[in-house]
Amino acid sequence: MSRQTIVAANWKMNGNAELAAQMCRGLNDEEFNANHQVVICPPAPYLALIRANISNSQIACGAQNINENEKGAFTGEISALMLNDLQVQYVIVGHSERRAMFQDSSELVTEKIAYALASGLTPILCIGETLKERENGQTEARLSYQLAPVIAKVGIESFKNIVVAYEPVWAIGTGKTASAEIAQQTHEFIRNYLASFDADVAQQVPLLYGGSVNAKNCEELFAQADIDGGLIGGASLNVEEFKKICQAV
Ligand code: G3H
Repeated sequence: MSRQTIVAANWKMNGNAELAAQMCRGLNDEEFNANHQVVICPPAPYLALIRANISNSQIACGAQNINENEKGAFTGEISALMLNDLQVQYVIVGHSERRAMFQDSSELVTEKIAYALASGLTPILCIGETLKERENGQTEARLSYQLAPVIAKVGIESFKNIVVAYEPVWAIGTGKTASAEIAQQTHEFIRNYLASFDADVAQQVPLLYGGSVNAKNCEELFAQADIDGGLIGGASLNVEEFKKICQAV
């Protein structure tokens, strides 16, 4: 069976209720390839609105973060149970912006992944190297360092329910996309790394590329053997452009 393909929109702290309604209207009538999933990850206040307006079974809703605790005095945080309550299926965990600006360490990311899985959510685990790390030849070490604690905590079998998004930090929001060749080489490394734990599981994990993907460059990226879709930031705020990206897989 072929791997599931996924195009996920990460709106970050952008968008509004009007965009949420427009995006659902724009995507609901689209026909996608079988085994293709579109995921919209708006800011938390719009999750319920997106859920209520989605009528296409191949479109799901995702959150951009969760807290690793079930409930309690954690002002401003969102729990997995609340996402369950809204029938949200996916959650982005470990985005480089959260790792850099909100102290989401690899240990904390691992806790969040474990909690998301235990709550029946599908985590989109983000990993990626900085420009300095790439220039110093440390890309593979960085990616292994980010994957290893998650594998140790939840086990490789759990990756049947995890999506991995490779997002080179230097390509995020910069307009500098990784070339298709570099992206494919890195995705291949990630798949081989997962395969060193379990080859069968590694073949099933959707690997998404993220970093300045747009309607012009998506086809070449998505045509690569180990790229199963994308995690889209800026270009997911435009309904027509995002539709094109969703159809490019
Ligand atoms: O989560 C999405 C990524 O950070 C990519 O963002 O497409 O704006 O570069 P971008």
